[in-house]
Amino acid sequence: MSRLGPVICVVGARPNFMKMAPILRAMAAHSPPLPVLLVHTGQHYDKNMSDRLFEDLRLPRPDVNLEVGSGSHAIQTAEVMRRFEPIVDAHKPSCVVVVGDVNSTLACSLVAVKKGVPVVHIEAGLRSYDRAMPEEINRILTDQISDRLYTTERTAQDNLAREGIPGERVCFVGNVMIDSVVFGRANAPSANSTLQTHQIESQFLSHPAGYGVVTLHRPSNVDDADTLRALLGVLAEVAASLPLVFALHPRTRSNIDRFGVTDLIDPARMLLLPPQGYLDMLGLMAGATVVLTDSGGLQEETTALGVPCLTLRENTERPITVEQGTNILVGRDRAAILAAIQDILGGHGKHGRVPEYWDGHAAERIAADLYPWLTQRSVSLA
Ligand code: UD1
Repeated sequence: MSRLGPVICVVGARPNFMKMAPILRAMAAHSPPLPVLLVHTGQHYDKNMSDRLFEDLRLPRPDVNLEVGSGSHAIQTAEVMRRFEPIVDAHKPSCVVVVGDVNSTLACSLVAVKKGVPVVHIEAGLRSYDRAMPEEINRILTDQISDRLYTTERTAQDNLAREGIPGERVCFVGNVMIDSVVFGRANAPSANSTLQTHQIESQFLSHPAGYGVVTLHRPSNVDDADTLRALLGVLAEVAASLPLVFALHPRTRSNIDRFGVTDLIDPARMLLLPPQGYLDMLGLMAGATVVLTDSGGLQEETTALGVPCLTLRENTERPITVEQGTNILVGRDRAAILAAIQDILGGHGKHGRVPEYWDGHAAERIAADLYPWLTQRSVSLA
């Protein structure tokens, strides 16, 4: 192993951090440890979207920050590629490890594969079969150019097989996202203490139905004024029987202001918070009566926590959360959302079970597989 270059681990946007933290720990704990270089592309850069999560997840400071910031998809992807290439040239990595489906994932994979550096994709094979989602394009292309693909659920293997990816490249290890849930649960503050730090009026803490947690950030839900207005209208109806805590992504925050739809938010029933740290969010979700979201990660985290989840999308790339977990796809269908809320408030919420290998040890399985895979490659290339 000593002749191998470092494993370059790439993070860029918020949902990458909770996936990479357990991987770095597992690589350090492996015997022998895998040498790592942590690269942050800077796709997300706000304190709340980035630094705070590094602290909560005990991620080490990145060795390199490419500081690409925001931009159109083309500009952001191109900027990551342009700035990542010299890092690969300088460090001669044994492989590049990417997670998830954000623009940074695809950009760094493309740079690596064209330089003959193996690409390792964690959370491979998830498909929404909705190519209008930028993440779906990132998933398909990253998987096509990956040399080792680690999956979180068994349906992912079928998706990859359909796209012609040889089965021997694919390894089912479980879900690193849940490794972070297991790690974070011990340290997450209670929902009450999180809400008290925001000086929330007591009705949010003492309402007999509890409270719901909301997150929305998908362009398909928040970038169109009519769509966002309609969704906020339904949330206002939900909030009439269940107070809602809404953790606002910067994209959503700015669109609410831009579209002039703040009048739909009654602060006595719907509390707007900035993006939450990882541990505060975990505490809020764990204490919630229901989570309403369009996030991929929250669908998985609620399944692991056993909290009912209503996904405000027509599809999911994480079908196991519906088949086995607590997730229900409700889209933007007002009647479906209100009926599901009534079920939950009536004590008939969906009970799920925790899927196979969502046990807190996925990253260890990855390190245990990756080390021999890399050493074997280096021997055969020598
Ligand atoms: C990205 C990912 C998405 C993921 C989401 C989690 C892609 C294609 N999308 O979407 O899969 O679910 O992250 O948040 O990679 N902004 C800030 N501060 C920041 C970062 C962004 O204010 O630290 C604002 C900017 O106005 C920016 C906008 O948010 O233009 C969108 O950021 P961007 O990184 O393009 O995509 P996300 O919507 O965050």
